[in-house]
Amino acid sequence: MFKNLPDYVEDPILGLFDAYRADVRTRKVNLGIGIYCDEDGRVPVLASVRAARERIDGTEPCIYLPTEGLPGYRNAVRELVFGGATTDLQERVVTIQTAGGTGALRIGAEFLASTNTKPQICMPDPTWVNHQAIFQAAGFEVSHYPYCTPDGRFDIDGALATFKALPAGTVVLLHPCCHNPTGIDPSREEWGRLLDAIAQRALLPFFDMAYQGFAEGLDDDAWAVRECARREMPCLVASSYSKNFSLYGERVGALSIHAPGLEVAKVLGQLKVIVRRSYSCPPAQGAMLVATVLQDVQLHAQWRAELDGMRLRMLGVRASLHALLTRELPDADLSFLTRQRGMFSYSGLSGAQIERLRSRHGVYVVSSGRICIAGINASNIAQVCEALVETGFKPR
Ligand code: LMR
Repeated sequence: MFKNLPDYVEDPILGLFDAYRADVRTRKVNLGIGIYCDEDGRVPVLASVRAARERIDGTEPCIYLPTEGLPGYRNAVRELVFGGATTDLQERVVTIQTAGGTGALRIGAEFLASTNTKPQICMPDPTWVNHQAIFQAAGFEVSHYPYCTPDGRFDIDGALATFKALPAGTVVLLHPCCHNPTGIDPSREEWGRLLDAIAQRALLPFFDMAYQGFAEGLDDDAWAVRECARREMPCLVASSYSKNFSLYGERVGALSIHAPGLEVAKVLGQLKVIVRRSYSCPPAQGAMLVATVLQDVQLHAQWRAELDGMRLRMLGVRASLHALLTRELPDADLSFLTRQRGMFSYSGLSGAQIERLRSRHGVYVVSSGRICIAGINASNIAQVCEALVETGFKPR
C-alpha cells in the first residue's frame, strides 16, 4: 500500500523557512519567506488587532461559521477591495471568506473549472511559486506571459503580445500591487492598456492581492481592481490579510467575484458547494479580528496608520540598502532597489551566490533571487550588505 508515491519535493519558500528555523547560528537573517518583521526583527502584533482581540476574547462560543464566512467580515472586505459601500456593491460582487489567500485562489480555480471543460490560465513569468500548482490541481492548463524586461522593468510589450494571442475565455492572473517575486508593478497607464487588451480578447482577470497597502497605500494599491470594476469588466479577486494585519497563522482571506448582472445567489451557492466539500467552513478567529478592526472607526484609522508605518519602514530599508551597497559597489546600477515596491526585491543573485549567502553568512534568500526586504533592519543591514558584496553580487 502507498508504495508508488512520488518523492516529496520541498516547496522552495516553505522548505527554506524550515531550514532557517533549524539553523542554530545566532547571526542568521531570514530574507526568504514573505513575513514582515519590524525594526526589532519581530513579527508585529498590531495595536489595532490587539485591541480587537480584547473586545472579542471569550465573549462568544466557538461554533461553526457559515460556509461563506462571517457576514460582517465579507462586507468589510468587499469594501476594502472594491472601494465603496456594500449597498452599492452587493448586486455585482460576491465575496466569501476563505482560508487565506491561497484558499481563495483554490476555491476560485475550482469554481472556474466547474464552468469550463478546458480551463486555461496565463500567469506572469515569474510569479509566486504556488500559483501554477494551485491552478493545475484544479484542472487548468497553464501558460505564461513575460513579466520583466532585461533591465528590470515591467514588460508591457511582451505581456500585451501574449494576451492578444490568447483564446477568448482564458483566465489571466494579475498581481495588482507588489508583484511577487519581483516587486515590479505596471504603471496606471500600463494597467489601462492591459485591461483594454483583456476586454478586447474577452479574457478573464483573476487578481491575486496579497499585499494591499504595502506599495503606495490601501486605495492606490487596489486601483487596477477598481478600474476593472469601473469598466464593468468581470473579474475574480483573491485577497489576503496575512501581511497587512500581520495575522499569518490565522488564515484570513477572501474570494470576490465581480460581474455586472451577476446571478449573486447562484454564484454564492456554487462557491458554498466547493467550500463545503473542501474544508466545510473557514476559521473564525482571524476574520473576527479583521472585521472588528475594519468596522470600528477608531480601530480602522489606527490600523491604517500602522499599515502606513510598515510600508514606510520598507521604503526606508530600500533606501538604506541602496545607500550602503552604493558605497561598496559604486559602479553598479542599484536603482531597482528603490524602484521596486512591497516586501520583495528581485536581486538577480545567482544560484551559487544564494547558496554561499546561506552557508557562509546565514543569510536566507529564495532560490529565485527574491529578497524579502521586510526581514532587514538596522541591526542586520550591515551584515546583509557585507554578505552580498562578499559573494560577488553584481546587479544587472
Ligand atoms: C511568500 O511568497 O513568501 C508568501 O506568500 C508565503 C508563502 O506562502 O509562500
